[in-house]
Amino acid sequence: MTSPANGQDWQQVRARFPVLEHKTYLNSCSYGALAHEVEASLQRYLLARNENGAEWDYWLERNEAVRTSVARLIGVSADEVAVTASVSAGIDSVASALDFSGARNKVVITDFEFPTNAQIWYAQEARGARVIRIRAEDGRIPLEKFERAIDEETLIVATAHVCFRNGARQDIPAIARMARSKGALMLADAYQSLGTIRFDAGEAGVDILVGGMLKYLLGTAGIAFMYVRKELIASLVPTVTGWFAQQDITAMDITRYAPALSARRFEAGTPPVPNTYMAEAGLAILHEIGLDAIEARIRVLTRAIRDAALEANYRLSTPADPEQHAAMMTLDATDDHRLVAELANEDIVVSCRDGRLRIAPHFYNDLADIERLFQALHQHRRLLA
Ligand SMILES: Cc1ncc(COP(=O)(O)O)c(C=O)c1O
Repeated sequence: MTSPANGQDWQQVRARFPVLEHKTYLNSCSYGALAHEVEASLQRYLLARNENGAEWDYWLERNEAVRTSVARLIGVSADEVAVTASVSAGIDSVASALDFSGARNKVVITDFEFPTNAQIWYAQEARGARVIRIRAEDGRIPLEKFERAIDEETLIVATAHVCFRNGARQDIPAIARMARSKGALMLADAYQSLGTIRFDAGEAGVDILVGGMLKYLLGTAGIAFMYVRKELIASLVPTVTGWFAQQDITAMDITRYAPALSARRFEAGTPPVPNTYMAEAGLAILHEIGLDAIEARIRVLTRAIRDAALEANYRLSTPADPEQHAAMMTLDATDDHRLVAELANEDIVVSCRDGRLRIAPHFYNDLADIERLFQALHQHRRLLA
């Protein structure tokens, strides 16, 4: 299947991901497939250690290359990007910089959050935060609910771009406008969307954006990032910190705390060196193929999932409108864990949450993968709602 949009030979693209030779891999919402280039990049790190020992200057350049590549991905400047060990580490750092002691101490989250983007805010209750959780209705969160929840007492709105449970995509620019109009900060967790759709953090009007490398960005666990809008950085002084967050890392100063002037102030300790190699290589593939081609390809695949599900009368729990989801589509199941296990026996890799089967293609999947999945699902009809 060659894309008329950019002449991409998708069969060749697919051949770069060895797992696809023996698995129907539709689990990119959990962990992306490993590309040859990403594997080779890690090998280079290991070989160089045997050859040369420690190469700190080169390693730190790799970390900076990741920062620059992430900045390009989300349309911001590298100074606005922190490279972190996880999304949790980024949010922890921002939360530690907020003052909840005044009248503006409300944190607005929703039912769509990944646990870390709720638990960290509940942890701030000990510091005076009041957490308000907006409830979903039939798998959606109407914008009016944000309108009602965000007020002059709101310090920050922290919510997911795409929900990891049902794949629903939220209108982040609209929520960011509401937050800004009330003087509140806006944090978007874009882990489940970046790499599958074009998303410009600056244009979206968010103050803070978090994401990580192990899913659609084709890298690995143990490395993530956080964008913080330039104008905001100086006003946020993290109290969760470390030596790599200082203005001058090489000063080795044990007499004071002097956070970096850039978003690096939200980092902590030694960068995850092997992970930077893999993340850099994964991001390079995304840039090479291009987000427009990737988004178009994923639309074809998710449309095929939607159509096959509707035709078979399966219950799609993701909104059918492509503007309201990204790559992940979910089906209601009667026994989701059993279904995932049965499919795994047939070399079909998917995952589940809350009674839903999560089907998460990436650009390396093709229509034959979707067909194979649905042929298997028809055999396991009793496990679907
Ligand atoms: C929406 C979302 N946020 C955050 C995470 C993970 O956060 P962390 O990097 O802290 O493990 C995930 C998945 O692992 C996710 O799906």
